[in-house]
Formats: sequence, C-alpha cells, structure tokens
Amino acid sequence: MTGRRLLFGGDYNPEQWDEDVWSEDIALMRDAHVTTVTLGVFAWGFLEVDDDVWDWDWFDRIIGMLAHAGIGIYLATPTAAPPTWLHRAHPEIIPVDRRGIRFHAGGRLGWCASHPTWHEYSTRIARRLGERYARHPAVSMWHVGNEFGGGNRLCYCEESSAAFRAWCRARHGTIDALNRAWGTAFWGLRYRSFDDVSAPLASESGTNPSLLLAYDRFASDELLGQFRRERDALRSAGATQPITTNLMLAVGGSVADYAQWTDDLDVVAIDHYAQAADPHREREIAFVASRARGLDRSAPWLLMEHAASAVNWQPRNTPKAPGEMARHSLQHIAHGSDGALFFQWRASAAGVEQFHSGMVPHAGTDTRHWRDVVALGSLVDRLGEVAGSLVAPTRTAIVADIPAKWAWEEAQPPLPGLPIEAESRRWHEALSARGLVPDVVAPQADLMAYELLIVPGMYAVSDAVADSIADAATRGATVVIGPLSGIVDEENRVRVGGYPAAFRALLGVFGEELHPLQEGDAVTLSSGAVVADWAERLRVVDAEVVDRYASGVLAGWPAITRRNVGDGSAWYVSGLVVEGFDDLVGAVVSASGVGAAVPVLDGVEAVRRVGDGASWLFLINHSAAPARVPAVGVDLVSGDRVEGDITLAAGAVAVVREDATS
Ligand code: GLA
Repeated sequence: MTGRRLLFGGDYNPEQWDEDVWSEDIALMRDAHVTTVTLGVFAWGFLEVDDDVWDWDWFDRIIGMLAHAGIGIYLATPTAAPPTWLHRAHPEIIPVDRRGIRFHAGGRLGWCASHPTWHEYSTRIARRLGERYARHPAVSMWHVGNEFGGGNRLCYCEESSAAFRAWCRARHGTIDALNRAWGTAFWGLRYRSFDDVSAPLASESGTNPSLLLAYDRFASDELLGQFRRERDALRSAGATQPITTNLMLAVGGSVADYAQWTDDLDVVAIDHYAQAADPHREREIAFVASRARGLDRSAPWLLMEHAASAVNWQPRNTPKAPGEMARHSLQHIAHGSDGALFFQWRASAAGVEQFHSGMVPHAGTDTRHWRDVVALGSLVDRLGEVAGSLVAPTRTAIVADIPAKWAWEEAQPPLPGLPIEAESRRWHEALSARGLVPDVVAPQADLMAYELLIVPGMYAVSDAVADSIADAATRGATVVIGPLSGIVDEENRVRVGGYPAAFRALLGVFGEELHPLQEGDAVTLSSGAVVADWAERLRVVDAEVVDRYASGVLAGWPAITRRNVGDGSAWYVSGLVVEGFDDLVGAVVSASGVGAAVPVLDGVEAVRRVGDGASWLFLINHSAAPARVPAVGVDLVSGDRVEGDITLAAGAVAVVREDATS
C-alpha cells in the first residue's frame, strides 16, 4: 500500500494572473499538499492566439514549474472556451436556440457539437496539444473539454438538423418505423421521408414528446461524439495517459445519458456543487456520489470539481460552514472517489465567476478558509493508502435513468413539474439511514448483483429493461417498483392496456387510471400512511394487497401490492407516500433480508472501502452533537488507536483502518 496517494488540487487558470503570482501559487500548492492541477481548461485564446498561430512559451513555463514542484497535471483540451477570433471568423459554430436565434460570442461553450467547422478547429487544438505534451512526464491525465453540454446541450441550427436526420435514420431504418414509434398520426404530422424531420424548433402549440425525447438522446450522442473526436485526436498524437471528462451528476442535472458514456472514459470523473439552500445537502452529495460509483463499479472514480466554499450562481451564495468543506470532500472519498479536486485553485478577480470561491480566497492566506484548505490537504495526504480501494459491494441499488427523466419532462404528463428524480433521492436517504449504502445505477447495470432493487420513477422503459428488472426478481431479489414507472416505452409512447404496462405482469396488477392529486390534498392509506401528489386507481390480478387507499375517491382500492416471483418478490407502490415512508422502507428491507452493512447512527454517515485485504470505515458526523460509533482499528485522521468505539465530535470525521477480523 505504500506510495499510494489520493488526489488533491483543482482547476488552475494561471493565464488569469501575472507571472509573478505563479511562483507564489506553486509555493502555496506545496503548503496545501496539492498533488494535481487541471490546466488549460479555458486557455485556448492564449495558446492559439490567432488562426493557426501558436504561443506555447508561457504554457511550457508553467508546466515546467509545476513539474519541478512534483505537481501532476491533468491537461485540458481548452475546447470549452473557443477564442474570440474563432467566433469572429466562424459565428456559424455558435449554438442556435429553439426559436432559431443564434447566440453571440462572449460566453463559453459557444459551439455546436454537430458543426463540421467546429469539428475541424476543436480537433486541431486537441491534436496540437497532444503532439506537444503527450510525452511530458508531469501530464498524468487528459481532461477533454469541460462539462460537455453545460449551456450548449441543444442546438437547433441547420447542421444539427441534418445530423439529427442521419441519427433518426440509423435508429429507425425507415420513415414508417419512425412514424409508428413517434405516433405521428397525432395532429396529422406524418413524415413522408427523413427530409421532413428536423430539430424540434419552437412551434406555436407544443411539440411531439417522442421527437423531444429523441432530440435529447441525439444531443447526448453528439456530445459524446465530440468527446470521442478530441480523445481520438489526442491518441493519434501519441497520448498514452488516461483520458476523461467531467460529468455533471447533480440532482436535477441531466445533460447527457452518461450510462452510454462510461465505456469511453478511462476514469469516471464528476463535478458536484452542493446547494447552499438545501438543509440536507450532505444527503444529496451521498446520492450523487453513489451514482458516480454506480457508473462503473469496477474502479474508483474521481471528484474532478467541487467548491471550496461558496459558488456564484445560486440565489444566495452562503460560504460553507467551518468543517463543511472537509466533510463534503471526505464524503466523496468515502463513496469511492480517489481524491477531492476543486474549481478552482485561486478565486478569480474578474469575469463571470469572480465571486466563486477558490482554494486560495480573495482575502489571501491569513484566513480561516486557507488554513482549512491546508488542513484538508494534509488529511487527504494521510489517507493515501485508501487510493485504489472500492466501496464495499452492497446488496442494495436504486435504478435511476436519465432518459426516463427526459421522457417525463418532455411530455405534457398528468402532473407537470413533479420532480421525478426526487423519489430516487428519498429512497436513497431512507436506505442510507438504515446502513445499506445503496448504489445508484442505470438500468443497463448488472442488476443481478443486488438483493434489493428499488425502481422509482422509471417512467419510460424499454422491453429489455423491463425484462432485466423482472429477471432480478425471479432470481431472488426484492424488487420495488415505485410510482410513475413503466408508463411509456423508450420512444415516449404510452404503453396501453393498463398501467404500469411495462411491469404489469411482474407485479400482477392492473392500473385503470393515473390519479394525480391537487396540491395540498392527501389520501390516507389503511396503514395510516399518507399519499400526496400522485395516486393510481389500481386493482390486483395476481398479487397480495399490502395497503389500500382509505380516503377520498380511491378509498378501498389497492395502493401497495406484493407478489412472489420465482425466488424473489415484486412490490408496487402506486402513490407517493409522504407519511409512513420509513415504515414502508422498513417493510421492504426486512422482506429482502438485507441487513445494515455499516454502523447506524443518527446524523453519522458511515461508508466502508475495501481493497487488498484491508478495509477503511469512513465516519462523517453531519450532526451538531457528538456521537459514539463502534469501530476497531486505527483512525487515520487523528492517528489514534480505536478500541471498541470512537467518539466523533459534532461535525468531525474519522477514517478507521479496521483490524483484520480473520
Ligand atoms: C463548473 C465548471 C467550472 C466552473 C464551476 C462553477 O463545474 O466546470 O468551470 O464554472 O462550474 O461552479
């Protein structure tokens, strides 16, 4: 285990500062135990100063300085920020909005992923960087672009339409097949040939939800295509290092179907920004981190960016409380990240993000914030032996699918605005509170690894996904299908013949009518639980009724059902349970036989990483009270031996290298 290191550092934008600041930066990086910086993310205009006119000198100098200081470099292709000269020469690469109006230069991500001119310029800069630095010993990874789709996800220009037509042809083969899949008989749309198909520019009266969903998928594929183009340019220029990009997994964010990207990434890397207004933001972090590891269970992932303190883009940008930065970083590491990197090293003085925190604050180093950064760097350094280990295999997973969320959001569904993903997060919180450390996986994941499988809000489902979820139950898992699931197919067409049609056979139920509730209305169940927002008129065909609606117009109809399937069982929760939810969670957990994998204590998050015959128990006290947690081993935070239990002060963290039990 010697020689292992977790990564600590962040985005470094030296071009924003005079060169005399650079040596101070390097000295401070060393003080803070920085291992790695991401360089060049927005530096294109400083490297290619005019069309095919290059200035490498300053870049060579800063790369040399970092290398000399032993700081590893993730070298970015700077394609997130096309230079002004490129936009002046080729404004046609800038995205067009749904009303057909082109944006203007001056922001970032001002490019259309389908535009051939963009392809040409972006691959040239990637290739030139590769040719120059592929063999540089300090370059340890390549960081392609930045947050693909964060602003330029959907472009509606002519080039995009042309690429979309080709995409549709590849997916559907014939225009008749497309017409059937998208239900274009509605409003007499009916395409005669692929030439009739175009990007879903705004219409006066609504757009076919199947077309909108197709465009979401297409956009995700186009962005992935751009990633591949730049990656291939780097490889053909001789790059041998891992190549990745930073995905955006935060709750609410869904720019791409990342499950389709994972095979192309050498390392899964994510950005995450906590919402200061969320009183339980640590729970959202745990959810997102569980989703990051769910993208590739076979290797550690990497937190490529988070904020050292406040961001500049929320309604109120409150700084993190003392200790909070460390807890957030440690949460990500606990959940499988091999480090904690930030946006950005030094807070900018100018520009759009001038009030975004950095590791070095505007006020400089005589600050609590800087001292906390240094302390965290030292702690991450002491945790180096954890690098390469994985979160201990868990028997519980929540299935969450980005296209299913798109499908719901793109339709005019019975309850628009209902945040379909919130249900996944609620299950994650409740299962985590029981010590189950659930993974969050896409439906394409190997579901056979899990004994308890929660499927909430899986609105759009293909036959293949429905089958693999049913197989998991047959093989012995307890499967819970939550509300809003199985309603449409993967093309956003309702599966007719009773809800939730994709899962009806598995569940042994027949939903007659979707039944959203008015705001503030609540329906009581026989058990005393309460449902709000969403219910369903449901009958059982071949299932046992676990709970019934007991008030309102649905009184007497089944609400929660259960059916034995093969060696397992399939539960259906037809309404959004807002009171009594924890009892429901308790019932399915005990039916599954899955027990707590880590100590369970109110307000203390516990996650175990394992590897090479060792295990580390991460303990993070998010509460305002001290807690005693059972553990035996050595706490790498304090260096102290732990015999039987450890007392964690309010807000404190511990990482216990556990004594081998055998
Ligand atoms: C993203 C981007 C960064 C920066 C931060 C601000 O993560 O990748 O460049 O804009 O957001 O929070």
